Amino acid sequence: MSEPRQILVTSALPYANGSIHLGHMLEYIQTDMWVRFQKLRGNQCIYVCADDAHGSAIMLRAEKEGITPEQLIANVQAEHAGDFADFLVDFDNFHSTHSEENRELSSMIYGRLRDAGHIATRSVTQYFDPEKGMFLADRFIKGTCPKCAAEDQYGDNCEKCGATYAPTELKNPKSAISGATPVLRDSQHFFFKLPDFQAMLQQWTRSGTLQDAVANKLAEWLDAGLQEWDISRDAPYFGFEIPGEPGKYFYVWLDAPIGYMASFKNLCARRPELDFDAFWNEGSQAELYHFIGKDIVNFHALFWPAMLEGAGLRKPTAVNVHGYLTVNGAKMSKSRGTFIKARTYLDHLQPEYLRYYYAAKLGRGVDDLDLNLEDFVQKVNSDLVGKVVNIASRCAGFIHKGNDGLMVAGDAAPELSEAFLAAAPSIAEAYEGRDFGRAMREIMALADRANAWIADKAPWSLAKQEGKQDEVQAICAQGVNLFRQLVIFLKPVLPLLAADAEAFLNVAPLTWNDLQSRLENHKLNPFKALMSRIEPAKVEAMVAASKEDLLAADAKAAPAGNGELAKDPLSAEIEFDTFAAVDLRVALIVKAEAVPGADKLLQLTLDIGDERRNVFSGIKSAYPDPSLLEGRLTMMVANLKPRKMRFGISEGMVMAAGPGGEEIYLLSPDSGAKPGQRIK
Ligand code: 2FM
Ligand code: ZN
Repeated sequence: MSEPRQILVTSALPYANGSIHLGHMLEYIQTDMWVRFQKLRGNQCIYVCADDAHGSAIMLRAEKEGITPEQLIANVQAEHAGDFADFLVDFDNFHSTHSEENRELSSMIYGRLRDAGHIATRSVTQYFDPEKGMFLADRFIKGTCPKCAAEDQYGDNCEKCGATYAPTELKNPKSAISGATPVLRDSQHFFFKLPDFQAMLQQWTRSGTLQDAVANKLAEWLDAGLQEWDISRDAPYFGFEIPGEPGKYFYVWLDAPIGYMASFKNLCARRPELDFDAFWNEGSQAELYHFIGKDIVNFHALFWPAMLEGAGLRKPTAVNVHGYLTVNGAKMSKSRGTFIKARTYLDHLQPEYLRYYYAAKLGRGVDDLDLNLEDFVQKVNSDLVGKVVNIASRCAGFIHKGNDGLMVAGDAAPELSEAFLAAAPSIAEAYEGRDFGRAMREIMALADRANAWIADKAPWSLAKQEGKQDEVQAICAQGVNLFRQLVIFLKPVLPLLAADAEAFLNVAPLTWNDLQSRLENHKLNPFKALMSRIEPAKVEAMVAASKEDLLAADAKAAPAGNGELAKDPLSAEIEFDTFAAVDLRVALIVKAEAVPGADKLLQLTLDIGDERRNVFSGIKSAYPDPSLLEGRLTMMVANLKPRKMRFGISEGMVMAAGPGGEEIYLLSPDSGAKPGQRIK
């Protein structure tokens, strides 16, 4: 046997300001299956990840929610960790980029780059929001397209005509954060001198580290010549201050990949057998793999290897890139209910259904993967329930009834046993090369052969005949042995099914080596159903719930929020269905009072005809004497999910216009409208 390999594996670090959806999950499931395969083979394989906790988006979101960024990232981390665990994604460690390990490693790497002359500084002129007191990234600036005059376009490209431009070219620019007109301001920035690594990258990207399609794409950038990379941001920014440079912070993408190292370092403190330096120092014999999506290739296959090289550290063995997820042939869509959060899926369906479907459709390439919901139901039911589990359920009963659960010795189908063993190297090669689709096809072909053989032998007919008991037992013992082989093959994809099968088989956790042995004169435990069919109604319910998620999210971003007025004037287009799903009603303000301890909130009691609602609304600054609102009609969103707030439960939202502060205008219907009437 060859020495076990030492392998460190990562998936991209999810941002700490949003929920995990099925698109993210594609990557984590892909990586997890690969890691589980390595562990099953007896290799030392460590899988680390973390939340990507820095950046202005996280800072602004925390501010909007009225909590500290630390609180936000702690909340999100708990949510992410739960989603991953329930999808059976088994990280050895899930850490955060906002950690001491990451601060130390980021300073160390930056210090080494600076000392080696790879950092430059120069002044940069950028838009600055005078109201908010911060520099604006391109996506926080909106204005009129300089080419086609479309309004409300982002700072770097026009969605209408596709033009790209500098934010300074936008006409009538506005800060998307405060609505203020931005002004130009200079500031000193720090740059990583990527061109210093041109020759190394030219060689490294072509040395088997990347899929061909990825290397070809990078060659275009490399041929065009690399630019220096701006790695600093000015305060206010949520991140690490650059050592010795007050008011200057590392750009989130500088410390994000270092977060891989930090998570591993954090794990090393708990696992003394792991030697951090042995994995990361130049010349390390350990293997290092990053799994990522195709949108972040430049960070992982240009900036990151260059940073590592410049800091005297090892570079990745490979960066494995996957394509995007589409659902029913199109980009995930909130209004169609195909923008499905991990948790929404888990509320309706088993994680292994999706793990198998992704496995069946994943290849080594960067093509997009389509989750076709009808095909998903059909494939999982036919392959897993109809083929794999069926073998065990067909055979177990006869062994229990006819032989008290004892599997007899002897190989009733040597040609099949041989075929299963002979397939193992090819299946292993497919897993190793991330060609999960091929692995699944080969495994299902074996399952088909096993089922055909059992159908041909028809133990259920033999069982009714005199003197055929031994034959029935021999067939069923063989069937269970073949099932056991299939479970080993599928274990990286279906760890729960494997655990349940191990319990039924009455064996210790199976490894790849166990393919070499079989169960003979072995007592089984009672058989319990290992997997049930997917009911299409559950899929429909998941899609419906995803539409509801959208309504909840829309409501949160709507103008007069419960709590503070949303400051973000950006609005995406919505489908008519989304609009139609909002239950807008005329509401009579029966009571309006200040909320003790809340600066901005009023508590409203609203009459909507057949019921009364309690609503908290962030309109106090405009209505310092709330009693004046009593008796007035307004409009409310009546089917908003109730929201638990510090002061009680808010059961809807009233509608108001205006920028905030004293300028908030509660909307009212014309006189004559009646409480409870629907607004159409
Ligand atoms: O694109 C993203 O979602 C980033 N948060 C990925 C970071 S991966 C790594 F470099 F940290
Ligand atoms: Zn345009």
